Amino acid sequence: MIHYSDPPILLRDVLGDVDAARAVLARAAPYTPLGGWYRPDADLDAATSPLWFQNDWVHADLRVSGSELFLHHPRVIQAARDFYGADVIVPHSVYVNVMVALDRAGPAHTDNPRFQGRDRSNTPMWLLRTMLWSGLFDRFSIVQATSIWWMNDVEGGGLSYWPDGPDKPPHRHFGAMANTALVGDNHGMFHQVGAVGPFGKGLLVSPRAELAPAEDGSGEWEVRDRGALRFRAPLGDYRVSVLWKADVYPNEAERARQCAQALSLADVARVFDADLAARREPLRFDLARLGDARFAKAVAEFYPEAAPLDALPSFFDPA
Ligand SMILES: [Fe+2]
Repeated sequence: MIHYSDPPILLRDVLGDVDAARAVLARAAPYTPLGGWYRPDADLDAATSPLWFQNDWVHADLRVSGSELFLHHPRVIQAARDFYGADVIVPHSVYVNVMVALDRAGPAHTDNPRFQGRDRSNTPMWLLRTMLWSGLFDRFSIVQATSIWWMNDVEGGGLSYWPDGPDKPPHRHFGAMANTALVGDNHGMFHQVGAVGPFGKGLLVSPRAELAPAEDGSGEWEVRDRGALRFRAPLGDYRVSVLWKADVYPNEAERARQCAQALSLADVARVFDADLAARREPLRFDLARLGDARFAKAVAEFYPEAAPLDALPSFFDPA
């Protein structure tokens, strides 16, 4: 049901001019703490977020000036073609993770899937993920290629990834990561960011915190939360990774065929209902309850996610 891929392709010396990427990074500041579907009900004034910041550089309605450096990178696009044996690569998103002083790893996870007509712009994350893990929508999925590029080498911050499937030990990309990229399938392959130094600071901020260059010309970057300075360090101490995503189609004819179809929410409900009925489960998919966390949990329980072997303890694990 879930297809596990080959190991990702490692590219070295990806950018000729890393300073250009630093300029884009500064242009898109300030950065805000990773919000997201892990903790949709986070209190805006509670300091519960680790120092993991994320901003979009490119999506359907956004293009930060200079981000073309990544969006149209020829070697990355060719690596995606080679990885999938596909002719048509359509880059659509670039976003950035900036992390520092994370005493525990991030969650081991697969990235959120896309289906024909259904993505995060019109469908709750939990539903996209449940569609993925159900295996009921594989024929509607739009294959995604991902590149992760690293700006610098920091204390910790390696990447574990599971190209052999979640029941086999992970591989690691660690040390000499600066200006390298891994191109592959982060939607079918679990991956996890290790803890990032400096360690032992135990820093948490509220969802209102912001990360931006200091205004004194020092080149340092600062984390400020509701007016207070919480952390400050040279940019080189922050783990900066740039994520690139593209739709993948074997050829133009297949692209035209897939783009001509769109799953409606009613279609999604029908497919789940048919499966639940076949399992003799009384639950039915209720489109009026898409925003109801209890309903989400009830549906997702029938289609559990895998838990990858040897994953590191994460700050998102239940306490
Ligand atoms: Fe990811």
